[in-house]
Amino acid sequence: MAILVTGATGQLGAPTLAALQAAGHAARGSSSTGRNGLVHADLFTAQGLDQALDRVETIVHCAQTGGAKDLRLARNLTAAAQRAGVGHMVLISIVGIEDIPMPYYDQRVEIEKIARASGVPLTIQRATQFHTLIDQLFNAQRRMPVVIAPAARFQTIAVPEVAGRLAELAAGGPRGRVDDIGGPEQVGIGQLYRQWRDARGGKRPCLQVRLPFLEAFRGLDAGANLVPGEPFGRQTFAHYVQEKYAPGS
Ligand SMILES: NC(=O)c1ccc[n+]([C@@H]2O[C@H](COP(=O)([O-])OP(=O)(O)OC[C@H]3O[C@@H](n4cnc5c(N)ncnc54)[C@H](OP(=O)(O)O)[C@@H]3O)[C@@H](O)[C@H]2O)c1
Repeated sequence: MAILVTGATGQLGAPTLAALQAAGHAARGSSSTGRNGLVHADLFTAQGLDQALDRVETIVHCAQTGGAKDLRLARNLTAAAQRAGVGHMVLISIVGIEDIPMPYYDQRVEIEKIARASGVPLTIQRATQFHTLIDQLFNAQRRMPVVIAPAARFQTIAVPEVAGRLAELAAGGPRGRVDDIGGPEQVGIGQLYRQWRDARGGKRPCLQVRLPFLEAFRGLDAGANLVPGEPFGRQTFAHYVQEKYAPGS
């Protein structure tokens, strides 16, 4: 019986599949295109899905489109998993999604509900924002005179560390919702920006914005995106950007 990682061309799915294979598991990956030796399974149309789940015991669901279509991906996947008699699905989700209302997070809440209602035995792992997300936020504004960012604290985590955790969970049985995981430090956006700018170069300032009338900002103010207690992650954001932007890398 095999483990199937959906979204195996993605930033989280690819290292999760690699971690499972490195640990000696019979794991394969899927994507909507089926490129690069991956299984073709379009979770939106359900094309190829039943075949992809043939003799699969465990699914690690890392596929996403980044929007409302993800609800349909979850419905199609869980329905097919029920038909195939899949014994365990590991679902990645995000810390604090109920308390930080915004469309993408509201959709993650719905996806967790779809997964729970499906009856497929589940493990739900919520993680904080990835280092790559904050890097992308700053990078997307690299031609702007000022970088605009939400005035909040974050506890970003390295993608390979999340991938390793998903691989470990996939190797075990269903555990319901497990403890949330976050990166090693809780850091304000201004400091994250300075770390990024030190590594990337440049002098532009960061304008921190806070829109108190938006409930999402109240959630961020309350630290709903953070994980108190002993941190799971080891690599800091500063270390991540130093490595990524080191000369010659
Ligand atoms: N970014 C963060 O800070 C963060 C934090 C915590 C949790 N997460 C969660 O981590 C998960 C993975 O995110 P990611 O950044 O790794 O995503 P990503 O890089 O955007 O990868 C998405 C994957 O989904 C596949 N895909 C897209 N449409 C599909 C379809 N119709 N059928 C099948 N596969 C499809 C893509 O491959 P093809 O296009 O080749 O099909 C790709 O492999 C998401 O659920 C996200 O919410 C993210």
